[in-house]
Amino acid sequence: MHTRIEIGILGATGMVGQHFVRFLEGHPWFELKWLGASDRSAGKKYRDAMTWHLAGATPDAVTDLTVEDCKPGNAPRLLFSAMDASVATEIEQAFACAGHIVVSNSKNHRMERDVPLLVPEINPDHLKLVPGQQRNRGWKGQIITNPNCSTVSLTMGLAPLKQFGITKVIATTMQAVSGAGYPGVASMDIMGNVVPFVGGEEEKMQQETQKILGEFRGDHIEPLAARVSAHCNRVAVVDGHTLTVSVEFSSKPSIADLHHAYDNFQAIPQERTLPSAPPRPVIYMHESNRPQPRKDAERERGMAAFVGRLRICPVLGYKFVALAHNTIRGAAGAAVLNAELMHSEGMLD
Ligand SMILES: NC(=O)c1ccc[n+]([C@@H]2O[C@H](COP(=O)([O-])OP(=O)(O)OC[C@H]3O[C@@H](n4cnc5c(N)ncnc54)[C@H](OP(=O)(O)O)[C@@H]3O)[C@@H](O)[C@H]2O)c1
Repeated sequence: MHTRIEIGILGATGMVGQHFVRFLEGHPWFELKWLGASDRSAGKKYRDAMTWHLAGATPDAVTDLTVEDCKPGNAPRLLFSAMDASVATEIEQAFACAGHIVVSNSKNHRMERDVPLLVPEINPDHLKLVPGQQRNRGWKGQIITNPNCSTVSLTMGLAPLKQFGITKVIATTMQAVSGAGYPGVASMDIMGNVVPFVGGEEEKMQQETQKILGEFRGDHIEPLAARVSAHCNRVAVVDGHTLTVSVEFSSKPSIADLHHAYDNFQAIPQERTLPSAPPRPVIYMHESNRPQPRKDAERERGMAAFVGRLRICPVLGYKFVALAHNTIRGAAGAAVLNAELMHSEGMLD
């Protein structure tokens, strides 16, 4: 039996930190040994440092671990980060500088020129930015990021169609309340309501989509030359971000070409059978009223994207619906799959 790789979590007590703890339970390659959080939590047992917000009990293996300060010292080399964005920049950099591999879910470093913004099924070659990042910054360690939780639904819905030359995208989100962390949006604001604003989200979706679907060019990513417009809304759904998307192509694919592209989309995580890779990363649903967050987001351990209702758009050409689980495929599960891809590339040796 192989020895598992010891790992830690920065921001382990928060909402996304808890998703990491749960997602990593029983992982075949990674063994959770270290938990970091703020000085409010440091020194306490994990069970006393946080209130568990997820379904099921706190995994036994972590309840008695003592939470540590987020300072380099005795943490394992591989760290997942679910740090509060107000402190993630400096803390993640300090760990990378000290030789740690920081696989981050925070927004802070995503758009930096030498930092991979990775979706393993879409742009695994963007990991080639890492040697330049280490040279530029004089780091032995590194920072790798995963996208914002709405961006992941959009990019997975678009990736199989990239071959047709994407020129314009308009995406409207219906985002779950869990995306705002805990306690998130006040119940009085969201019950029976729609909030047509999610701070900073539209800009993130527009820029991150272009970077993820862009091309590696030696020391940077050439963004996809498509115009992307996002409208972001918070709705009274617990988990799962649903998007309606209109897209224009430079070529003239038929609707059968697009269906064929969805049905045949496979990628490196599936070829290598990475532990958290769903057998099919993008699942096209033929029912007229799917995908739906309550019925579909949790399927495939929350790691697949679901697409449906592909049809003609009188304005841009085609339109469809996309859905992904925001705290799993859009957060903890995404980062774990990133680390699995890195391990399969020999980057954790
Ligand atoms: N919620 C989502 O669905 C979602 C999705 C994608 C991305 N994200 C991103 O993921 C990150 C975490 O989100 P969240 O919802 O889990 O936030 P959260 O519940 O507020 O948790 C924040 C974590 O950061 C720690 N922290 C705060 N200040 C610190 C400091 N000075 N030093 C060390 N640790 C500190 C907290 O520790 P204490 O408990 O000790 O305060 C806690 O563990 C954010 O960057 C967010 O934008 C969230």
